Amino acid sequence: MRQFPPDFLWGVATSSYQIEGATTVDGRGESIWDRFSATPGKIADGTDGSVACDHYNRWPEDVALMKWMGVKAYRFSIAWPRVLPTGRGPVNRKGLDFYSRLVDGLLAAGIEPFVTLYHWDMPQVLQDQGGWPARDTVSAFVEYADEVSQVLGDRVTRWITHNEPWCISFLGYANGEHAPGHKNYREMLAAAHHLLLSHGQAVSVLRSNVKNAEVGITLNLVPAQPASPSAADLDACRAFDGMFNRWFLDPLAGRGYPKDVIADHVADGHLSSETLDFVQPGDLEAIATPTDFLGVNYYNRGIIRSNRIPESENAPRTVHVGPERTDMDWEVYASGLTDLLLRLKKDYAPPRLYITENGAAYATGPDADGRVRDTKRSHYLRTHLEASLAAIQQGVPLGGYFAWSLLDNFEWAYGYQKRFGLVFVDYATQKRIPKDSAHLYRAVIARNGLDVELAA
Ligand code: FCB
Repeated sequence: MRQFPPDFLWGVATSSYQIEGATTVDGRGESIWDRFSATPGKIADGTDGSVACDHYNRWPEDVALMKWMGVKAYRFSIAWPRVLPTGRGPVNRKGLDFYSRLVDGLLAAGIEPFVTLYHWDMPQVLQDQGGWPARDTVSAFVEYADEVSQVLGDRVTRWITHNEPWCISFLGYANGEHAPGHKNYREMLAAAHHLLLSHGQAVSVLRSNVKNAEVGITLNLVPAQPASPSAADLDACRAFDGMFNRWFLDPLAGRGYPKDVIADHVADGHLSSETLDFVQPGDLEAIATPTDFLGVNYYNRGIIRSNRIPESENAPRTVHVGPERTDMDWEVYASGLTDLLLRLKKDYAPPRLYITENGAAYATGPDADGRVRDTKRSHYLRTHLEASLAAIQQGVPLGGYFAWSLLDNFEWAYGYQKRFGLVFVDYATQKRIPKDSAHLYRAVIARNGLDVELAA
């Protein structure tokens, strides 16, 4: 049996800053990614999202592509600075109207809108007032969630509050690779807490504004394995899993922040005591507000090697990175997805899971005949769908799968060099060409299963 459940939600995903362009149109305010991209040295190819895929103007064509593909749902994000250019109001109607038109267009095409409120493009004014490390940003986000859901809530029932709080907090505030580019571990911990708190508070607002709302949060999760059975590697693996996965999963599940990881932060000097002074009474209860689903973004596994002892003193590695790597230099490891889903079911038992992102960067462009033979992406897609099905067959309540991404797009600090799309974008002409992987996905969706052969 290689069939998916009958109501399985097949989708594709994108995010606002990565595809929309039109960054100065219809009253949109500046976002932290406009500012960051304009800072020399931050984006590998010196580009920015000011044009991107010009989706702001070409969305009808993109909706038509999704309709052709047969997807049942489209996960996209709202650009906060289009809605609240100055951070806290007044609301910019024209900005919201864009999403209202998009939602209507999707529904007319028989595609369900699946909205992410925050996929990284915060209004720059809010960053100037402290950004996520500042507690005031929590109420700003909740106001924003309220405004958007009041307008779209009559047509959108499925909502994701945040995309990948680990990336927002760690890459944005600790290692500085993403906007706003800070390097301060304490800021990172406060940012992560305020993201989670704003999520919990927004869940209640979304429920009150939206009838039959289905609400969740999306985490990027990495199943980790120690590189060897040495005590040092086992401990490094515990610490990695603790900061990457459990730091977010545990408080959402009502367990508070993991004590072993707090102790790591104290030992490393990132915290002066085990008291997290940014946590106020009631916060942990709010963070644990029940949700309807957990969104999972999966790209690869982690093979964890200790850096606390010299390599020569550590045991020989027993786990090795596989031979196939994507253009991100990420290992292709499909069974990690099954492992991850089974672990989530066992340790956290969420009512429902969606894979809200999964995909691979390969640069493959059109051949002389105009066809994009992206065999490696097709292989990635097929094996990860197999891995998803294996999890379903073992009882994981997986409700859907969203391929990252519909289109090649602006891949953050990498600019346009990394292509994740099922659809190729020629940035000079904005021409879209469905790659072979898009044809594969279309065939899978049409059969609701994996018994699909494609002509070479
Ligand atoms: C995820 C992001 C998404 C995209 C993919 C490749 O971390 O959510 O926007 O950049 O990685």
